Amino acid sequence: MRAVDWVDGKVCFIDQTRLPGQECVVETSDHRTVAEAIRVLRIRGAPAIGVAAAFAMVLPLQAFPPASTDWEGEWQEAHDLLTRSRPTAVNLFNALSAMKRLVETLRGSGAGHARGVLLEEARKLQQQDIEACAQIGSRGAALLPDGALVLTHCNTGALATAGEGTALAVIKTAARQGKVRGVFVDETRPLFQGARLTMWELQREGIPATLITDGTAGSVLRDGKISAVLVGADRIAQNGDAANKIGTYPLAVLALYHHVPFYVAAPVSTFDSSALSGSDIPIELRNPDDIVKIGNTAIAPEGATVFAPAFDVTPAHLITAIITEHAVLSPPFDRSIARMLTQSAEAG
Ligand code: MRU
Repeated sequence: MRAVDWVDGKVCFIDQTRLPGQECVVETSDHRTVAEAIRVLRIRGAPAIGVAAAFAMVLPLQAFPPASTDWEGEWQEAHDLLTRSRPTAVNLFNALSAMKRLVETLRGSGAGHARGVLLEEARKLQQQDIEACAQIGSRGAALLPDGALVLTHCNTGALATAGEGTALAVIKTAARQGKVRGVFVDETRPLFQGARLTMWELQREGIPATLITDGTAGSVLRDGKISAVLVGADRIAQNGDAANKIGTYPLAVLALYHHVPFYVAAPVSTFDSSALSGSDIPIELRNPDDIVKIGNTAIAPEGATVFAPAFDVTPAHLITAIITEHAVLSPPFDRSIARMLTQSAEAG
């Protein structure tokens, strides 16, 4: 299963708003459809958003004859539209910057040539994410004890990445090693990525999973049986502060209080080298309807005032370790992150 892919000149993706009821695949050769899909969470999860945006940036070139050289204005418009699709997951901006850097070297080239170069880059980003997921899976699995009971939030699996996932790849890898006794899955209000998507993925993998409301996590952690809390991230600042789905920060506080390790799993593409701390991370505010309605059913009186951030920031001091494809980073994170980013840049 691939959440997002490039097939026969089109971007193909699973419409995640329809899961778990319908497995609906959308194919498009219009970058605007991809931008809209990201905006409304048909495509979601930080690494998947990045890969989708990279593929979307190939599409505008296909509207030009191969020898045409006047494609850059329209390409830039498409780039700007994608930039505005969602604000928090930095993978989107890292992927768009990589494509933009290439375009600067392609000025004056024919659209056919430029298309080929950009497609190769998008495929490279996809492949890097597939490999990062595999590495994160095995590095993270080594941290879990035998018979592990883990708690996770949101969806960080194959639907959220190009590969097996980040936090969910750790769980899947450990499960294949026979180490996982069970997974508690936060339903993840307000859009239920845990209930709809993580439960769907874990059931397909045959991994024993128990769905809980977000508010139940405290009781589960107090029982003293949870080996680790494992979550993903949408953007990690240089000091280790990590933005992730709303509800992650309270989980980190609970984990510290109950002496449970709190792990963040994320690829290098989720690090923001221009954000010094969490206060530099833009937090998306979503439509109040996400909170006051479930489907078409109102669950609050009309006119209710709503505060609907999509993400929160977990301060670095609440994080036990950050699992990346290159290394498991320990505090102090400012140093371990800087070292890892330098090594990763040197490795190309
Ligand atoms: O709003 P979403 O569903 O895109 O939020 C996704 C998350 O918060 C994930 O935990 C994060 O992107 C990491 S996915 C590997």
